[in-house]
Amino acid sequence: MFPEIFIKNENSGHCGHGGFIILVAYQRRMVLFERDNEIYRDRDALREDYQPDELVGRDEELQTYQAALQPVINGEQPNNIFLYGKTGVGKTAATKYLLSHLREDAAQYDDIDLSVIFLNCDGLTSSYQIATRLVNSLRSEANQISTTGYPLASVYEMLWEDLDARGGTVLVVLDEIDHVNDDSILYQLPRARANGDLETAKIGLIGISNDFSFRDDLSPKVKSSLCEQEIHFPAYNAENLRAILEQRGDVAFHDDVLSDEVIPLCAAYGAKDAGDARQSIDLLMKAGDLARDEETSVVTEEHVRRGRRALERGRIKEGINGLTEHGHLVLYALLTLDLDGEAPVRSRDVRPRYTRFAELANRDPLVPRRMRDHLSELAMLGIVSVSERNEGRRGGTYREYALDMDVELILSAMMETVELVGVHDSIASYVEEDDTDGSPTLEDFTEV
Ligand SMILES: Nc1ncnc2c1ncn2[C@@H]1O[C@H](COP(=O)(O)OP(=O)(O)OP(=O)(O)O)[C@@H](O)[C@H]1O
Ligand SMILES: [Mg+2]
Repeated sequence: MFPEIFIKNENSGHCGHGGFIILVAYQRRMVLFERDNEIYRDRDALREDYQPDELVGRDEELQTYQAALQPVINGEQPNNIFLYGKTGVGKTAATKYLLSHLREDAAQYDDIDLSVIFLNCDGLTSSYQIATRLVNSLRSEANQISTTGYPLASVYEMLWEDLDARGGTVLVVLDEIDHVNDDSILYQLPRARANGDLETAKIGLIGISNDFSFRDDLSPKVKSSLCEQEIHFPAYNAENLRAILEQRGDVAFHDDVLSDEVIPLCAAYGAKDAGDARQSIDLLMKAGDLARDEETSVVTEEHVRRGRRALERGRIKEGINGLTEHGHLVLYALLTLDLDGEAPVRSRDVRPRYTRFAELANRDPLVPRRMRDHLSELAMLGIVSVSERNEGRRGGTYREYALDMDVELILSAMMETVELVGVHDSIASYVEEDDTDGSPTLEDFTEV
């Protein structure tokens, strides 16, 4: 299709005497892609895989963590460390940061031979899978073992042998350790030396998890060996997030692109939500992208607000899309009750409307208990809020549910259910008639 070449017939200014024609071939190219770096200096610095040079606002935890790693430099048996805290609070970043320093600093001591094996357990569900991965990470390409077919005990044998062959200090980091369903490896690794499985290698295990119930459910014997040193990473407050965003913003954006209120606002939202640095950095990037799409050269508070709505919409949509059909019907019932001014409402008062909607959708309604499970799931997703009520001596406690999200946001993800059940009066003002076939459609909420 291109380049498109066309011939221009250009009459020279001197053509009066007998005239001559110059044929000029122009090459006209349509430009589809053009650099638009006016906003970003380095947008990649806002991505998940970016490792900052310094960590900000984590001094206390880093000090504890550093002290727990100190035996490595002293040539002693390393501690087993268990790191826990909610998602996005810097557990992985702190580990990578400290271990890269530890490696560099250990290199200055001739008598320290340090190896670090970093394994993310996402996608690995058993001790067997972890153990084979570890064996293979210690072996050359030519000597890899198959990831199935050995008894677990033989894989451990190989692991101890390979670890002893490597020798020195070996730190094994198991990030997102809660994906592993059985705790055999969590017991075996930290205790390998004490159990006489290892002779030369000094091994230390660093386990990382954001799942608090995982930690609470560890068996006492695993807990005592794995959690020799426990380090808790608390959620960030607005001030911490501000420092993190400022550091990241300096790398990612050109000078004077961020207006003054952008970072404080991203930080305030982040602290209100979950104190999650990842979420705050994502919001800053979304605001930057919106400004870039608009071809403006300044990111404003308005971009942040719109960015937040867009991200929240994405999150809620994802959550709602993942629900079953009955989950959608329960949510539709609660949504309309909420709009009718009935919320907070007990499960038994959601039931008649849910049952009605299920019938309209030609589905058999679930039994009350199952319906309640769906309400709990909605609460877990943050779409619905739950409050415990106490009826005094006679009634005991019960739960009440209310919507905890923008109606428009929820409706935008519920099109199919509304079409299936029909438009309830309470949402009529959110729904407009489709010009083409008269059937109801939701207003377009996808615009940011
Ligand atoms: N103190 C900090 N200073 C600078 N950047 C930080 C800090 N804490 C977190 N970050 C950044 O925030 C993002 C999330 O951090 P990280 O991946 O370490 O979270 P996590 O605690 O491991 O979360 P998860 O449990 O979900 O794995 C990363 O981009 C990281 O670089
Ligand atoms: Mg992590």
